[in-house]
Amino acid sequence: MRNVLVSGATRGLGLAIARGLAEQGYHVCGASRKRSEGFDALAEAFPGQVLHIAADLSDMGGLRDVVVEAKSVGGPIYGLVNNAGLGTDGLLSNMHASQIEALISLNVTAPIMLAKYAVRSMMTSGEGRIINMSSIIATTGYSGLSVYGATKSAMIGFTKSLAREVGRLGVTVNAIAPGFVDTDLTEGLGAEGRDQVVRRAALRRLAEPVDVAQMTCFLMGEGGRNITGAVMTVDAGATA
Ligand SMILES: NC(=O)c1ccc[n+]([C@@H]2O[C@H](COP(=O)([O-])OP(=O)(O)OC[C@H]3O[C@@H](n4cnc5c(N)ncnc54)[C@H](OP(=O)(O)O)[C@@H]3O)[C@@H](O)[C@H]2O)c1
Repeated sequence: MRNVLVSGATRGLGLAIARGLAEQGYHVCGASRKRSEGFDALAEAFPGQVLHIAADLSDMGGLRDVVVEAKSVGGPIYGLVNNAGLGTDGLLSNMHASQIEALISLNVTAPIMLAKYAVRSMMTSGEGRIINMSSIIATTGYSGLSVYGATKSAMIGFTKSLAREVGRLGVTVNAIAPGFVDTDLTEGLGAEGRDQVVRRAALRRLAEPVDVAQMTCFLMGEGGRNITGAVMTVDAGATA
């Protein structure tokens, strides 16, 4: 069974991704600080196939151990989904330095370090898939999300160069750029802001976690074998 490490697999997009991958027959190691009811239900539905790794991914010193643990419970890493992220908003001039650091540490440093350790396992196997969660904000911009936007643009730059670096080893590296999706991360936007996103979207609705999960499964599977260095937008036409 191919082993996939999914960061932030206990809620929102990550939980949908973990479910989608488990249904496709992957072994899933879901990393986050704590378990959730949704994740426990998934692990119960897929005994021995979906496992939790407890880790604070903003602690750089522990990132190698996360990959080591994923390998020890599920074998060589076939896939890495760098999904965990913070969505802290605020006017830049008012943001505390610690908030800026926290965003950069979880949204940029952690995915880069996890990829660094996971790619070693992929190099040995001669195959692998890395999927980095970006956002449409990386390219559209949004007032109050300058630091978040910077971290999500960083994921695109990282994706493109790493794809060039590891392509000859049989490893693909892609980014997914979701539009607004209802999760804990976006609850701060409020009903009015949410309605505005719906009105402006070509399809007049929001993308859902399952849409991002299906894109992840596609890139992870046979259909994604010749796609690398790409950014796949899943936004119900918000940026069409
Ligand atoms: N929702 C959207 O509209 C949207 C749009 C575009 C892009 N995205 C991106 O998609 C990704 C997932 O977003 P989401 O909306 O699903 O977020 P979410 O519902 O807030 O879930 C975040 C996940 O990350 C984990 N996490 C948070 N801090 C962590 C830490 N320090 N260490 C380890 N795990 C941590 C959480 O578990 P614990 O709290 O237990 O650690 C949880 O499993 C993010 O990268 C986000 O930027 C989201």
